[in-house]
Amino acid sequence: MSSVSNEENNLSDWFTNSTVSYTRLRNISDWSHSLLKYQIPKSVRRKLLIILFILIVCFTLMIYSCVNCYVNCTSVCTFTKPSYILADGKNVSHNVNASYDQHMSRRLPQCIIIGVRKAGTRALLEYLNIHPDIVVTSKEQHFFNTDDRYSLGLEYYRNQMPLSFSHQITIEKTPAYFTDLMSQERIYRMNSSIRLLLIIRDPVVRLVSDYTQLMYGKKVKNKHVIALEDLIIDRNGDIDLDYKPIQRSIYYHYFINWLEFFRRDQIHIVDGDKLISNPYPEINEVESFLGLGHRISKDLFYYNASKGFFCVNLDKLDNPCLGESKGRPHPEVDPDILTELYDFYRPRNKMFFELANKSFDWP
Ligand SMILES: *[C@@H]1O[C@H](CO)[C@@H](O)[C@H](O)[C@H]1NC(C)=O
Ligand SMILES: *[C@@H]1O[C@H](CO)[C@@H](O)[C@H](O)[C@H]1NC(C)=O
Ligand SMILES: *[C@@H]1O[C@H](CO)[C@@H](O)[C@H](O)[C@H]1NC(C)=O
Ligand SMILES: *[C@@H]1O[C@H](CO)[C@@H](O)[C@H](O)[C@H]1NC(C)=O
Ligand SMILES: *[C@@H]1O[C@H](CO)[C@@H](O)[C@H](O)[C@H]1NC(C)=O
Repeated sequence: MSSVSNEENNLSDWFTNSTVSYTRLRNISDWSHSLLKYQIPKSVRRKLLIILFILIVCFTLMIYSCVNCYVNCTSVCTFTKPSYILADGKNVSHNVNASYDQHMSRRLPQCIIIGVRKAGTRALLEYLNIHPDIVVTSKEQHFFNTDDRYSLGLEYYRNQMPLSFSHQITIEKTPAYFTDLMSQERIYRMNSSIRLLLIIRDPVVRLVSDYTQLMYGKKVKNKHVIALEDLIIDRNGDIDLDYKPIQRSIYYHYFINWLEFFRRDQIHIVDGDKLISNPYPEINEVESFLGLGHRISKDLFYYNASKGFFCVNLDKLDNPCLGESKGRPHPEVDPDILTELYDFYRPRNKMFFELANKSFDWP
């Protein structure tokens, strides 16, 4: 006992006298022994042990409840609100059986709907969301096409995703990715084998729809509305290539950028006109492309004559016939201008068909 105290004193003398930086002089067990013995009183030591024991029990219980929790467990296991589970109206309890040994977490999307604007991306997303093995982000993320979002990092992006089981596919949609010049490489860096969905439609119909949407925005803000004809025809009477909606319908121009990074078989092209006129076959193809079982059945879709397109026969959807903006009437366009537009797009469509190895029956 006394020899240890002596040694302790000698050591402290040595510290104060020495200018040399100190590394360990005694082996670890000696130190811990003396620390416990001389610096922590016995009663405190006992309390500490009790607290430690309680913490271990709590932690074990928490892990245990997470392991045995399948549905309303997010508040325990991920510290978020349980309502996140039911994001986009999906009733997760349907999936409990299929995922009995799995846990929910937020995952980076394995599939992205990259565009095209006003070609039915929202309808596609809503239809796919019916599938029990698909979860979707209802909000457009604009992550890869905006520098300040992208600089927040993939962990930020992942946290925007809904909770999913490991057998489920997470899908994000941002139509602005298609025409952006950075998104291809950034998506490729996230996951070079990702699957992409591109939905397109008749470029002239899409152009008119794009124009209608832009003008609707102006009307709401009480801004001056300009006729389509005045926007798409320049002073020389030619198609105005500076008008963004004109550009966005030149599909090959943007598609080629995607083929620089992704194999053609990683990109599935959905026919937006057919998705409206007869959704089932298009959705069926997407299920195959994603390697999923065919779970979205034909009788889910019914035609609403007054609306002019298909609606979904599911109670859980608040709006089975999609948003009001989707059925907005388009303006009458001068037939001569329509002819000029179709003549303008025809050779450009052909270039797209060649790139895509897929044709569409547009005029
Ligand atoms: C989920 O589905 C189950 C069984 O079909 C049903 O009892 C429950 O009410 C549904 N919950 C929600 C939030 O829709
Ligand atoms: C759950 O799985 C069992 C056996 O795997 C099956 O018999 C049962 O029909 C499934 N229930 C549902 C609701 O899918
Ligand atoms: C990348 O995407 C593919 C196709 O969806 C998927 O199978 C794979 O798990 C993804 N990889 C990562 C790291 O997320
Ligand atoms: C059909 O569409 C009309 C117009 O939007 C709507 O009011 C009606 O509820 C729809 N009918 C059904 C059965 O969905
Ligand atoms: C083009 O598509 C056809 C039929 O869809 C397919 O048989 C052929 O292999 C494709 N060619 C290329 C180069 O991908």
